[in-house]
Amino acid sequence: MNTKGTTVYDCRMVDIQRFSDNRGYLSVVEGGIDIPFEIKRIYYLYMVPEAARGAHAHKQLQQLMIATSGSVHVTMDDGTNKKTFVLDKPWKGLYVAPGLWRDLDDFSGGTVCMVLASEKYEAEDYIRDYEEFLKYKKL
Ligand code: TYD
Repeated sequence: MNTKGTTVYDCRMVDIQRFSDNRGYLSVVEGGIDIPFEIKRIYYLYMVPEAARGAHAHKQLQQLMIATSGSVHVTMDDGTNKKTFVLDKPWKGLYVAPGLWRDLDDFSGGTVCMVLASEKYEAEDYIRDYEEFLKYKKL
């Protein structure tokens, strides 16, 4: 898929369904139903110190990011526009469209940020240099 033309407006917050009763809450995400991709990989960030994470783009990877605990700010960047999303509830996910630069910062203490990913890990899918990213987007 050519993802040069994707923009920050292709990202969106997703309300994750929750079930609650006197035992507490349960949330569920089903690939291909709640999100527009099948889930091939799950990873999570935790015990993050002050430092920011991210600072890269993916050419093809689609993701859903969820702060299952704590909070984090995710800034998406398409080379022209930037948009910051706040993840601070276990039932709020950010759908991350492919072909976009992302920066994660402002982690609160104890944050666990879970990422549901559309592909297995592929180092070649990363763009880690911002100038190279701008060239990829032909800006
Ligand atoms: P990185 O993508 O740089 O983390 P972040 O997006 O938070 O900045 O990944 C950190 C390290 O983990 C890097 O050495 C690659 C490795 N890694 C894997 O081996 N498999 C994976 O699925 C992921 C996401 C990372």
